[in-house]
Amino acid sequence: MQHSFPRTLMLLGSGELGKEVALAAQRLGCRVVAVDRYAGAPAMQVADHAEVVPMTDAEALKAVVRTHRPDLVIPEIEALAVDALAELEQEGITVIPTARATAVTMNRDRIRDLAASDLGLRTARFAYAESAEELAAAAAPLGWPVVVKPVMSSSGKGQSVVRGPEQVEAAWSAAQAGARGSGTRVIVEEFLHFELEITLLSVRQWNGPTLFCPPIGHIQERGDYQCSWQPAALGAAELAEAQAMAQAVTDNLGGAGLFGVEFFLCRRGGNGSSSGTADGSSLEVVFSELSPRPHDTGLVTLAGQNLSEFELHLRAVLGLPIPAIHSLGPAASRVILADAALDAVRFEGVAEALSEPDTQVLLFGKPDARPHRRMGVALARGLDLDTARGRADRAAAQVRVVAG
Ligand SMILES: Nc1ncnc2c1ncn2[C@@H]1O[C@H](COP(=O)(O)OP(=O)(O)OP(=O)(O)O)[C@@H](O)[C@H]1O
Ligand SMILES: [Mg+2]
Repeated sequence: MQHSFPRTLMLLGSGELGKEVALAAQRLGCRVVAVDRYAGAPAMQVADHAEVVPMTDAEALKAVVRTHRPDLVIPEIEALAVDALAELEQEGITVIPTARATAVTMNRDRIRDLAASDLGLRTARFAYAESAEELAAAAAPLGWPVVVKPVMSSSGKGQSVVRGPEQVEAAWSAAQAGARGSGTRVIVEEFLHFELEITLLSVRQWNGPTLFCPPIGHIQERGDYQCSWQPAALGAAELAEAQAMAQAVTDNLGGAGLFGVEFFLCRRGGNGSSSGTADGSSLEVVFSELSPRPHDTGLVTLAGQNLSEFELHLRAVLGLPIPAIHSLGPAASRVILADAALDAVRFEGVAEALSEPDTQVLLFGKPDARPHRRMGVALARGLDLDTARGRADRAAAQVRVVAG
């Protein structure tokens, strides 16, 4: 891809991840148009231009793109009018990574069918259901507990763990209430008692091999990540398997950019062959889902890598070289959450948090708060993972979100 600078990039979604992409773009002199459904969103604070648009409205989305004619449209969130993106792509606008990738990954059934049926990747056993009765019938053969998710939702919305038949009806209702859009379909999965869950950040280039970041371990609660660390301890065989699976699915989705590919590592029942974990036993690598964009658990790369996931995404989409990706040493992140609804916010304890060595605090600048809303993150490095994680945890615990 030959081009000159500066270029105009349009971010669809202007949260904390988009803010970091915008900052990276501006360091390269690009012009950034930040779009979101509300004013004052994090990326808007550092963009050249902000647009407040309902991005699930196809006409509104097409209008804002046609007005600015950006060189690249870079989605930051899942909830977009993906048909509008396909139409814009037809008109010659480059959508990152591709309009099809944004559509396939927005629907759990489409990405699961692609991964499991078309590509033959190992996933949790699963089924689909379109009524509470179908759900009850589909769940039983998977064995209790099961996990029920609306096919269209993110951040754990509408998702529940179902421990037995008596909870099916409630799970069905929760999925309908938490679903995005009008569809009623749910996916039901066997509950995996995994040892570890990881994100494998994978960078697809226009002209060049797919590159992988060191794996990131993370812990999720209520559908949102709470802490992450890098590099996650993974045997060479498991890592190679995860990379091969990530390569297969990202090759199919095409285009360029960074993808966050999520996997579970599960203890193999019984006879598994040895593949190099600390105790010599083997872990099974199970594909879960992926985002065709920077991943929230990858905020840790701002502290732990020579190039962050945001810089990598930018380089990949602009067709710039990525000569090396490497870890700078053990690193960790811990989110800073609000615990109440607040119309305006202030932060206390920032100075105490920053008294931890090798630690930084990012405050995203979101205008208001609601319970569990991510308002910031603490990032830390250390000589070992325990030290890095301890620093990030202590720093995050110092910061309090209070009424502004
Ligand atoms: N089959 C499963 N067994 C055990 N835990 C699961 C299973 N599916 C999901 N989980 C847990 O729930 C979390 C959220 O699930 P998932 O990643 O599928 O949806 P999501 O996070 O809402 O989607 P997105 O990442 O797009 O926001 C996972 O990270 C994992 O911790
Ligand atoms: Mg997820």
